[in-house]
Formats: sequence, structure tokens, C-alpha cells
Amino acid sequence: MNKDTLTMINNRTNEQYEFDILDATRGPSVVDISSFYKQTGMFTYDVGYTSTASCRSDITFIDGEKGELFYRGIPIEALATKHSFLETCYLLLNGHLPKRAELINFDLELRHRSFIDENLHRLIDAFPDSAHPMSILASGVSALSSFYYEHLNVADEQEYQDMARRIVAKIPTLAAFAHRKSLGIPFIYPDIDRSFTENFLYMLRAYPGGKMRRTVDGTGDIMPIEVEALDAIFTLHADHEQNASTTTVRNVASTGAHPYVAISAGISALWGRAHGGANESVIAQLEMIGDVNNVDKFIAKAKDPNDEFRLMGFGHRVYKNFDPRAKVLKQLQDQLKDELNLDSKLMEIAHKIEEIALNDEYFIKRNLYPNIDFYSGVILTALGIKRPMFTPIFVIGRSVGWVTQLMEFRNDKKSKIARPRQLYIGE
Ligand code: CMC
Repeated sequence: MNKDTLTMINNRTNEQYEFDILDATRGPSVVDISSFYKQTGMFTYDVGYTSTASCRSDITFIDGEKGELFYRGIPIEALATKHSFLETCYLLLNGHLPKRAELINFDLELRHRSFIDENLHRLIDAFPDSAHPMSILASGVSALSSFYYEHLNVADEQEYQDMARRIVAKIPTLAAFAHRKSLGIPFIYPDIDRSFTENFLYMLRAYPGGKMRRTVDGTGDIMPIEVEALDAIFTLHADHEQNASTTTVRNVASTGAHPYVAISAGISALWGRAHGGANESVIAQLEMIGDVNNVDKFIAKAKDPNDEFRLMGFGHRVYKNFDPRAKVLKQLQDQLKDELNLDSKLMEIAHKIEEIALNDEYFIKRNLYPNIDFYSGVILTALGIKRPMFTPIFVIGRSVGWVTQLMEFRNDKKSKIARPRQLYIGE
């Protein structure tokens, strides 16, 4: 028997089938079942793709058992604490960290591409003030396909690279506009003298004319520590292999649809509270719990099989250990506690939940640990960011991951239209 194959026996017919085992450079090997239907006349059944690898990828690796995450082979802890988000973007898009000159050019290019067409302002302006920023953002990114349709030759590598940089550069502006629209206040144009992350905070906070609101340190300008914290948050969200929104982006792109609408579909997929929308729900839940004395009651609700209540910010499909991104954020929370007026009441409730859950049989048995969303909200609140903007901030970080995965999909000769089958149980 060839050791690099998996043999399967159909116990109904005694027929035997063999499938190739493909080795990963890290992580579990995979069984190539692309000939499964041809060989067996049957489909495989895997709801939620819990055991299915949908593509080959060399971008991001997660070791869910150990709680480790790497972008292009570099541990997330090193990227979030020693490198900027722009360096991380460059790394994801190009496969290596930038040299000094490369970073300067990349930074300059993104600054210049951060503006959006005036007609797009008008489109955003047409939304009701009550619109959720995620709805405006998904629509705005989808609309980019109209503004840049003429400019995109999907067969051209350079055009694709331009598309990628355009997405990363314009999404913060669209997100900031969406925020200001939801508050009914005038839009603030990007300031190209400010760095990527500082500029985003500026577009959220500035008064018309560019004057800044007073900050915690009383200077009236954006504090470097705020920029560092948000920059680390962007880096921690930058990519996460084949999650629901990335898979959506790849699936939409697989039909040959325009890249901007594929990214817009990813934004919509991210919005759900089981995915990126959890960060907004965590703070809502902490506020609902209201007091450390109520934590036990809510833990009991989360454990009750007849209650749909779940602890938001807990659990993950892949991590069966502490989410490494959550570890970095927890440290960041502690560092920022005194300098940024972190909400001590919410932190107290969060710590109590964490302490109980990490020692509770229900959570231990199911490997339920805090995830990235459990810690991001408290920091974002301290940065003066409103709750509906939490998921758009996830989008800003993840946009580079989506475009990188999109380009990998496009360059993979084995890519096909995504078209799963079903187990038909109807008439
Ligand atoms: N609170 C209470 N019980 C939970 C939770 C939770 N947060 N998460 C999972 N469980 C239980 C679930 O009830 C089930 O129990 P049982 O085996 O008795 O039926 C078991 O754990 C397995 O859960 P599952 O839903 O089958 O697991 P999944 O891998 O399909 O779902 C998840 C993963 C993230 C959707 C889920 O853990 C969840 O809903 N968490 C809360 C939402 C959240 O924080 N999402 C953010 C994820 S991290 C950001 C991102 O990358 O998107």
C-alpha cells in the first residue's frame, strides 16, 4: 500500500478507493478528494466546512491547538508589537517586509490614493442618518466597481496591484465618512500629512476646517499612544486564513465578478455577530450585564442548552486554545489602562467573565477561550470610537487580507468556480 494515500472502503459494496494525501508545510496534511464523486458516485458532507480545505495558500497559518498565528511565516506578536500596520500590509501583499525605501513609497502611494470620488460623497450623503456604517461601507466599496470599472483590466497584474492598494487606501476614508454620515456631521477629507492610522482618527474626530477635539492629554491633537494602539488593532485583524468573509470574497471572485464587489461581499459577511460583528456585541453585552455581581447569572445563561444566549467574544472555530490576537490585546489593555481612561467598570466585568469561564467545566470541555473581539471594544471605546464603528475598524484591518487572498486566488491555476453539492432530502 502506498503510504501517501488514504484508503476508504464502502462497507455496502466492499469497493475500495484511494485518495492522495497532500502534505502542508505546516499543520495537518489534507486528503485530495477532488476525484471522490468520480470514484465513488457519492459526495462528501461537511456542514460549515469544519474539515474542508478549500484552497492552497501561503499567506497565513493558524495553529489552532497551540494558539499561534503567522502572516507569511512571521508570528503575529512580533508584527503587532514591532512593526506598523503598513509594514504588515506590504508583507501580506508582497510576501516580505518592506525595505525603508519600499515602505516610504508604499506609504506615500496610500496617502495619495486615500481620496474618494466626489460623486461617492454624494452617494454616501444619500443614506439616512440612521444607517449603520457597515451598510454604507459595503455599498461604498461595491460602488467603487462603477468608479473604477474602466480602469480595471482583470488580466493585468499591475491593474490588480493598483486595485489592492486602492482598496486598502480608500476603505478608511469610506469608513470615516460612513461614521460622520451616521452622526449627521460634515465629511472631513484625508490629510496626506498624517500617517495611515493617524489620518483615520483625524477623519473621525476633526471639526470642519481641520480643528481637533480635545484629547485625554489635553493637547487637542491625536496622541501617539492612540495611534500605536489602533495600528496594532489593525495589524491583529489583517488576515486570518479561510474564515467566513475571506471565503465569501474568494467565492464571489470565483465567478469572475469584479474584485470590488467581491470585497463588498466580504464586508457583508463580516458584519454578522458570529464573525466580525461580535466586537460590537461584546460591549453591548458587557453593558447589559452592568455589574460584576450579575456575571454568574449570565454565565449560567450561556451554559443553558435551552437558552440561545452566548458569551460574545468567546469561542472560535479554529482556536482550541487562547486566541493569540486576544493575548496581545489583553496586554495592550493593561498598558493603556492609566493613560487612556479605559472604562474600569467594563474591564472589571470582562475580567470577572474571563476568570469564571476559564475555570468552568462547560468552557474548558468545549475549548472556549476569549477571542480578539473580547478585548478590542474596551480599547476602541477609550479611543473615543463609537460602537457601530467597531466592525468597520475590523474591515479596515482585514481589507488587506481580502485583497491578498483575492490575488492569490486569481494567480492559482487550480482555482475554479465555487460550486458545492448537497444532500437532497426533498420530494
Ligand atoms: N458561549 C457559550 N457557548 C458557546 C459559545 C459561546 N460564545 N461558543 C460556542 N459555544 C458552545 C456551543 O453552544 C456548542 O455547545 P454544544 O457542543 O453543547 O452544542 C459548542 O460550544 C461548540 O460551538 P459551535 O457553535 O458548534 O462552534 P463553531 O465553531 O461553529 O462556532 C463561533 C464558533 C465563533 C461562531 C462561536 O464560538 C460563537 O458564536 N462565539 C460567539 C461569537 C464570537 O465571539 N465571534 C467572534 C469570533 S472571533 C472573530 C472572527 O475571527 O470572526
